[in-house]
Amino acid sequence: MQTVNTLPALREAVDGLRKAGDLALVPTMGALHDGHLTLVREARRQAASVAVSIFVNPTQFGANEDLDAYPRQLEADARKLAAEGVDLLWAPAVEEVYPAGFATSVSVAGVSDGLCGAFRPGHFAGVATVVAKLFNQVRPDLAFFGEKDWQQLAVIRRMARDLDFTRPHATRIHGVPTVRESDGLAMSSRNAYLSAEDRARAAALPRAMEATIATIRAGEPVPAALASLKRALLEGGFASVDYAELADADMLVPLGALQDGPMRLLVAARIGGTRLIDNMPVPPA
Ligand code: PAF
Repeated sequence: MQTVNTLPALREAVDGLRKAGDLALVPTMGALHDGHLTLVREARRQAASVAVSIFVNPTQFGANEDLDAYPRQLEADARKLAAEGVDLLWAPAVEEVYPAGFATSVSVAGVSDGLCGAFRPGHFAGVATVVAKLFNQVRPDLAFFGEKDWQQLAVIRRMARDLDFTRPHATRIHGVPTVRESDGLAMSSRNAYLSAEDRARAAALPRAMEATIATIRAGEPVPAALASLKRALLEGGFASVDYAELADADMLVPLGALQDGPMRLLVAARIGGTRLIDNMPVPPA
């Protein structure tokens, strides 16, 4: 595996890899877990070469968020990626991505606004900006993102369509299903912040979500089911619930009742000082 930190070195490496066929990109912020490695394996299955980026992107963190505390473990991550057969690691410094004078932002209206967007102002503009830059830098044929960040995936798909990222174009952005721990908790780099006690309690989140989907499908009105879900989380040790919504899977518009098309149950809740998000598919009515 080749590791590069500058744009000229990246271009040279990418030009070499592309000769072998399709190049896949897996964008990450590092602190790699099995969820990331599943993206890498899927990328390897579908492309001739795989590039992974590791960049803790400052523009997607709010002023009171965990940018400084975010786990950084480049050497351990690089070893994991090499063992997975990754061809190229793109690990730029902040100044390489945002040189002095950087003044451009990509914001995606609509799909960025609700859910996490309402609680983390500017977050999705930071994500869309850095992903647009990564697409321009690496020029991949395919890109892989985890479905755990469902709203992020929707924002990136919209951005890619709107800005004519033909490589990868919208249909070649792949969402990969969430990888879960044995007790159902979605894998996340932020799980490392949880105390042992909070980690044990955190499994209440996927359990409560599954129960909610079952009651909605059994005919309970959606607002009542969502209220019970919030109550169950607070009683289960969560400090607060930012949102619990049933939404259209693509547009992310909140729904008050089941609809014919694909839906998602999406939740963000805080336990200890950590904000966890999760989402699950809800089959059509
Ligand atoms: O999901 C992430 O790790 C980040 O939001 C991403 C897509 C790498 C952009 O910084």
